[in-house]
Amino acid sequence: MWNTQCFLLYVTLSIGFVYSWDIAITTGDQIEFYGNQTKTSNDGARFRDLTALAYDAVYNMLLFVDRQNDNASIFSYNLATKKYHPLVRRRSYENIQGLAFDPITSKLFWTDTNEKSIFWISLKPGSKNDIYGNLLIKMDDEIPRAIAVDSCRGYIYWTNTNITKPTIERARFDGTERTVIVNTDIYMLVSIAVDQNTKKLYWADDREGIHYSIESSDLDGNDRKKLLVGTYHMPNSITVSKDSIYWVDWGYKSVWKLPKNSPPNAEPEELITFSNEVPFGIVANYQIADQTAGVPECRDLSRMSQNRSMISDSFNIPRDLGLFCLHGTKTDGKLACKCSPGYIGERCEISVCHNFCLHGDCNLTPTGQPECKCKAGFTGARCEINVCDGYCLNNGDCSVGSEQKPTCTCHGEYEGDRCETHKIKPVVTTTPALPLEQCNCTKELTKSSLLIKQKSENTSTSADEDIYIDSSNCSDNWDPIRDPIIMVLGTMAGLLFVACAVFLTKILQLKRRPRIKKRIIVNKNVTPLTARPDQCEITIENCCNMNICETPCFEPRNTIRPTLLDAKPGKEEKRNLIANMENPDDPY
Ligand SMILES: *[C@@H]1O[C@H](CO)[C@@H](O)[C@H](O)[C@H]1NC(C)=O
Ligand SMILES: *[C@@H]1O[C@H](CO)[C@@H](O)[C@H](O)[C@H]1NC(C)=O
Ligand SMILES: *[C@@H]1O[C@H](CO)[C@@H](O)[C@H](O)[C@H]1NC(C)=O
Ligand SMILES: *[C@@H]1O[C@H](CO)[C@@H](O)[C@H](O)[C@H]1NC(C)=O
Ligand SMILES: *[C@@H]1O[C@H](CO)[C@@H](O)[C@H](O)[C@H]1NC(C)=O
Ligand SMILES: *[C@@H]1O[C@H](CO)[C@@H](O)[C@H](O)[C@H]1NC(C)=O
Ligand SMILES: *[C@@H]1O[C@H](CO)[C@@H](O)[C@H](O)[C@H]1NC(C)=O
Repeated sequence: MWNTQCFLLYVTLSIGFVYSWDIAITTGDQIEFYGNQTKTSNDGARFRDLTALAYDAVYNMLLFVDRQNDNASIFSYNLATKKYHPLVRRRSYENIQGLAFDPITSKLFWTDTNEKSIFWISLKPGSKNDIYGNLLIKMDDEIPRAIAVDSCRGYIYWTNTNITKPTIERARFDGTERTVIVNTDIYMLVSIAVDQNTKKLYWADDREGIHYSIESSDLDGNDRKKLLVGTYHMPNSITVSKDSIYWVDWGYKSVWKLPKNSPPNAEPEELITFSNEVPFGIVANYQIADQTAGVPECRDLSRMSQNRSMISDSFNIPRDLGLFCLHGTKTDGKLACKCSPGYIGERCEISVCHNFCLHGDCNLTPTGQPECKCKAGFTGARCEINVCDGYCLNNGDCSVGSEQKPTCTCHGEYEGDRCETHKIKPVVTTTPALPLEQCNCTKELTKSSLLIKQKSENTSTSADEDIYIDSSNCSDNWDPIRDPIIMVLGTMAGLLFVACAVFLTKILQLKRRPRIKKRIIVNKNVTPLTARPDQCEITIENCCNMNICETPCFEPRNTIRPTLLDAKPGKEEKRNLIANMENPDDPY
């Protein structure tokens, strides 16, 4: 009892600063602290692209990832001293998505989705660490993403986001006892959090499309509860405080809050909305006392919080020597790389040869272009063409001989380089007088082509036709299917032509009608038109077969736009008449 009181007093005194914020969020180059819904302080201006975030209340420190720092990838931020320290050197091709710290063993764990691994370092003074982190678990098919520690019971929990077989797994801090605890009804668990006090796991599932869910289970993955199932959120990171769950949502660029004990499918509260930066990681402030009170397994954690051992929260990370731009140089002052020939990507990490040659080896030309040396049987700029594809006809077998040339082994009654000819030649009935022996197509064609060649070389112009007659005389060319069709088509085309010709002549005859002209004299504005037609002069052209004396070809009245002033039909008619008269060239 005394212990608890002392402890509470200690906590209250020692973490005065901690009380000043409820949640911390990484967004862009900032770590933002919020208390009572207002931004209280703003640290981290010297960073660039902050992502994963973890908080440890025992050492009162934040741990976070800067994706675009030259030297290090993971940093610590001591909230009491307000000092930043690099912890882990940047790997050439990493993607750290989750961080978790266990204060009892002073071990920091993280997941790398590119390496498909979980790494760790110890912050105990004097411990031997790989500067890039020590490998804990290397996976083949699983893609570890979110990670959380249960310090009281000594487990790490992580989510595997290979969507063909998503799981939640856990293992001891040394990587042993690895077990899958959840593998049903989940899609992509983007984040996971451990609540020591209620002995629960909370996670955010970014379901296919626009759906998401916030769920909980006990620490063995049983007793699952769906706290919220909804749409249009794209959760990225989740955290649990004493009484609420918070998550960062990329759908609305917001932070949402849901009380832990809210009824199923209660509406979450939108706490913070971001306009420019996209929030990434989120941690809730908590007190060790709240987490450990009444939980026997948490004795060690509780004791640790009262009597912290030393940790070294800073490591000497050697200066990066062009690591940020893997195959290139950094543009001065800017966060951009100038890639060496043959490399592309934000950090020049992708070789242009990557996946370029489909069936062959890729080499770079001096200008940095990828060039393929194809394996036998393939061709094309990217070795994407199989030379055998569709080469042998009639089910012939294709094999690739020397010089990359495909050769066919024909079956049945087919032969030829591509098995394209039928062995049994059809008996030609059109020229029965000619014996087949006399007609050797290959011979004739070869001869003629030779002759043509010679002629073109000699630039002689005579006797070209003879050669063609020779070869056309050869009835062996007759194709039983193709040629009849050509003949029929030819005949049809001929008939069509004749029909067209006849039709055209008819049309021309029709057109050759006499051009009718009639002049009528009109005495403008004086005489009514109808009364004295002989004084009206109007040129009428192309008036078809009409009886012009009865029906002159004036523009019909309704095609002339009526004006408001000219409402009277008689007057209008007159106007039309005059208009037509004045512009006789107007087309109808
Ligand atoms: C939080 O803000 C509300 C009003 O916005 C205020 O009434 C309340 O006292 C504040 N709480 C703290 C702890 O500052
Ligand atoms: C996901 O898991 C399946 C087997 O369950 C494996 O074949 C596949 O390669 C994995 N995907 C990735 C990206 O590792
Ligand atoms: C704190 O822990 C250290 C060992 O970690 C121990 O030697 C020391 O006695 C402890 N102090 C108190 C006040 O418990
Ligand atoms: C990288 O390390 C060097 C030397 O340790 C330091 O001068 C430089 O500022 C560091 N770069 C960043 C972005 O922290
Ligand atoms: C056709 O001529 C070629 C050479 O010109 C010859 O090899 C082949 O045997 C001849 N075929 C016939 C049926 O005469
Ligand atoms: C022209 O043709 C004859 C055979 O007809 C050949 O012997 C001669 O080499 C040719 N001349 C040239 C310049 O190719
Ligand atoms: C066809 O060829 C034979 C000899 O091969 C020749 O006697 C005959 O005149 C040729 N017919 C025509 C139409 O060219």
